[in-house]
Amino acid sequence: MTRPLASSASRRLHRFTESVIREQTRLAQVHGAVNLAQGFPDFPCPPALKELANRAVTEDHNQYSITWGSRGLREAVARKARAYNGIAADPETEVTVTCGSTEAMMCAFLGLVDPGREVILFQPFYENYHPDSYLSGAKPVYVTLRPDLKTGDWTFDEKELRRAFGPKTAAIVLTTPHNPTGKVFSRAELEAIAKLCHKWNVLVFSDEIYEHILYDGARHVSPASIPGLQDRTVTIGSASKTYGVTGWRVGWAIAAAPLTASLRKVHDFLTVCAATPLQAAVEGALGMPAEYYRAMAGEYRERREYLMAGLREAGYNPFQPAGAYYIMAEAGAFLKKKGGPRNDVELARELVTAAGVAAVPGSSFYRSGSKALTQRRDDLLRFCFCKKEETLRAAVERLKAFR
Ligand SMILES: Cc1ncc(COP(=O)(O)O)c(C=O)c1O
Repeated sequence: MTRPLASSASRRLHRFTESVIREQTRLAQVHGAVNLAQGFPDFPCPPALKELANRAVTEDHNQYSITWGSRGLREAVARKARAYNGIAADPETEVTVTCGSTEAMMCAFLGLVDPGREVILFQPFYENYHPDSYLSGAKPVYVTLRPDLKTGDWTFDEKELRRAFGPKTAAIVLTTPHNPTGKVFSRAELEAIAKLCHKWNVLVFSDEIYEHILYDGARHVSPASIPGLQDRTVTIGSASKTYGVTGWRVGWAIAAAPLTASLRKVHDFLTVCAATPLQAAVEGALGMPAEYYRAMAGEYRERREYLMAGLREAGYNPFQPAGAYYIMAEAGAFLKKKGGPRNDVELARELVTAAGVAAVPGSSFYRSGSKALTQRRDDLLRFCFCKKEETLRAAVERLKAFR
């Protein structure tokens, strides 16, 4: 007889569950549902990128790169950071290539936050930050974003933000443009945050993976470009969303040399390096002309318009995003029916099984615990629109029929 295992999970894992988004994707596959849950395109990446990747393999870029990334890609990231983000970075000591921004964020947490310290998260939050906090032994502290019912903009209460900072705060995580709300942080908001970071000597982990996906004239402001923040900010980016290659797993972290030295230590032992041929391809991609970025954002704007209208027709109250490619929508109308779903989780389950559309329950972007304590909303669903026209059409038809 085999001896029972003393433990099948380390204590670190007790504080968080598996990804709800990836679980919805699995259910979508099981039930043949249209997947508007997980943020990856179902259309091909630009042909130029495929050529770059093919060439890199053919030319034998097949071995480990320098752990912190090939020199060519680090230089390309530094050039882009100067031109687009207003950040001056030395590619030798201040740029690290990682396996997507997911790894960059984890390296920032593990390399720069001591166990027992606090990290501020805006909720609803991109779900990875929660495990990032707990795996690094940090305690998340939450500031809630609330939608303005007239404009659809999501804002925070400055008093609540001030209360979140304290002597234990090590870092604040910013996501701009923001997933799941589509909020684009304004310069004024970032300046207010910068003042508090100064006062409490706090780092900024800035996830800017949607930096090129902006609508209606919204401007991307990188926190590190705010005076006084450059030396305390880790700016995290990725090829995943900008070039529609989420499976390539190439991202980067830009930070002052002492911060970079710490996160590189984690990166080296965690993954050694990102895929070498794809680093070469992303180096080429970063040289795409301005027209590529304009056209890409324009195409997403059309998809946003289509899904906004479709969701309204299907009985939801969607909030219009200013950036990224998700729509948060109120689904209260579906939660009032007798015998029907009682909350977003039950509704999302019913949508995937009965209507054939996968969305993400909004509550998975909020801290868990009692509703009174957490400010959690359980009447929201998140739909993503980085999909082919026909995929969006099929989803809208199914949602309308379900109504
Ligand atoms: C805000 C945000 N950060 C990071 C990621 C993951 O990025 P990557 O593919 O670069 O690891 C996502 C993916 O959906 C995201 O929405």
